[in-house]
Amino acid sequence: MPIPTSIDRTKIPRHVAVVMDGNGRWAQRQGLKRTDGHAAGEEALVDAAYGALSLGIEVFTVYAFSTENWRRPVDEVRFLMNFNESLLKRRQHELHADGVRMAFSGRRDRRVPRRVLSNMQEAEQLTAKNKKMTLNMAFNYGGRAEIVDAVKKLIDDGVSSAKVDERAIRSRLYHPEFPDPDLVIRPSGEHRISNYLLWQIAYSELVFNDVLWPDFRREHLFDAILEYQLRERRFGGLET
Ligand code: IPE
Ligand code: IPE
Ligand code: MG
Repeated sequence: MPIPTSIDRTKIPRHVAVVMDGNGRWAQRQGLKRTDGHAAGEEALVDAAYGALSLGIEVFTVYAFSTENWRRPVDEVRFLMNFNESLLKRRQHELHADGVRMAFSGRRDRRVPRRVLSNMQEAEQLTAKNKKMTLNMAFNYGGRAEIVDAVKKLIDDGVSSAKVDERAIRSRLYHPEFPDPDLVIRPSGEHRISNYLLWQIAYSELVFNDVLWPDFRREHLFDAILEYQLRERRFGGLET
């Protein structure tokens, strides 16, 4: 699908963050297993990421596994760990060839299998110098966990309370180099944040739609950007 001419190419958000939600419901509706829905989400991710790349979006963050998703049945969790690992293995070379840097936001703790962590590292290293776009996967990610981890680093760094300000916290988030998301897209009909990027979304524009993630394609990204371009961002100030 070509980029709609109605999109203002001078007002492309720098950072778009998407919640890849609705896989289970998509599968259930077709009489499939929930895990088939996760597998079907791969095509959506790749199409949306290439749509983002075609627009010149700098950072495209996708929520792949939350710190709360460990509450799911062990079989589903195991599937998601293996699936994300195999997705990385299968896709990293293609993404690398297309100039995409891969990054990860989340806790690299012991619950994540070691081979998954080493695959993440491999993809990061392979693509570290790519400049066209960063595909940032929020994996074992929680917004509260990220803030807790930043506070731990502050303490480990011996920062005195007098020196604690927003900059001190921000610089200890998982990827302080990324601009805050301009736009957050939550599909699947849920109207909540689910612990996504809590610090960074303070002034993000939120767009919701009813598409279940496996059906999501770049045209849904384009639609969300059109909606974003109609918004007036004020950041607490007055309209200009
Ligand atoms: C999103 O789809 C994928 C993950 C959370 C890993 P869900 O699995 O949450 O699908 P629904 O919301 O149950 O339909
Ligand atoms: C958010 O979706 C997490 C991911 C998409 C990875 P959830 O399905 O986990 O969110 P809730 O539980 O409906 O809020
Ligand atoms: Mg869900």
